[in-house]
Amino acid sequence: MLINKQSEQNSVFRPVQAGMEQIRIRRMTRADIEQVLEVERASFAQPWSADVFSATLLLPYAHYYVAELTGNGEDSRIIGECGVRDIFGEGEITNVAVLPQFRGSGVAGRMLDTLLRESLDKGMTAFTLEVRAGNLPAIALYKRFGFVTEGVREGFYEEPVEDALIMWRRSARK
Ligand SMILES: CC(C)(COP(=O)(O)OP(=O)(O)OC[C@H]1O[C@@H](n2cnc3c(N)ncnc32)[C@H](O)[C@@H]1OP(=O)(O)O)[C@@H](O)C(=O)NCCC(=O)NCCS
Repeated sequence: MLINKQSEQNSVFRPVQAGMEQIRIRRMTRADIEQVLEVERASFAQPWSADVFSATLLLPYAHYYVAELTGNGEDSRIIGECGVRDIFGEGEITNVAVLPQFRGSGVAGRMLDTLLRESLDKGMTAFTLEVRAGNLPAIALYKRFGFVTEGVREGFYEEPVEDALIMWRRSARK
């Protein structure tokens, strides 16, 4: 399946078109968890479990999203997921991931755009996340959305051991 990438100047995300199929960003529900786990397992050495997602979705301060590829009729498939926890007005972003075959076409950008817009509407004024120091696609994505590196946690990650960059976006601009 091909996804055509279109560049859009002055925009932090790029729209994605996939033939007759469409990608929709919406809130994650319990019914999504099974497919979200596939995205997790394909993306992280230490993926979250179904229990962790179930518990997280019950938290009033947790807001999780999926990218859903909708096709003809009833076909639909979760191809990406991300989430934020509202810690007293600061948004802690977790689990930004896209299925490998759908990466590089702006799917994560679209998810982050929705997450940040809706989080600002909910009153979050700053956002933070941790990323592996060698994760260049993720770092490029976050910089595009105005995140800057403010700290390093040495050897924070396991499998393999790697430093974590602590990134923040403190301005409330979209
Ligand atoms: C990080 C991730 C979510 C990005 O998803 P995506 O849908 O491919 O993201 P987008 O297409 O919106 O943007 C990817 C960016 O990485 C850039 N990129 C892609 N490969 C790259 C590479 N090897 N080196 C540097 N930049 C790269 C793209 O050019 C794009 O940046 P740009 O818009 O400035 O050009 C995806 O790679 C992923 O799921 N990785 C595994 C899980 C993960 O590491 N998550 C982050 C945890 S903090």
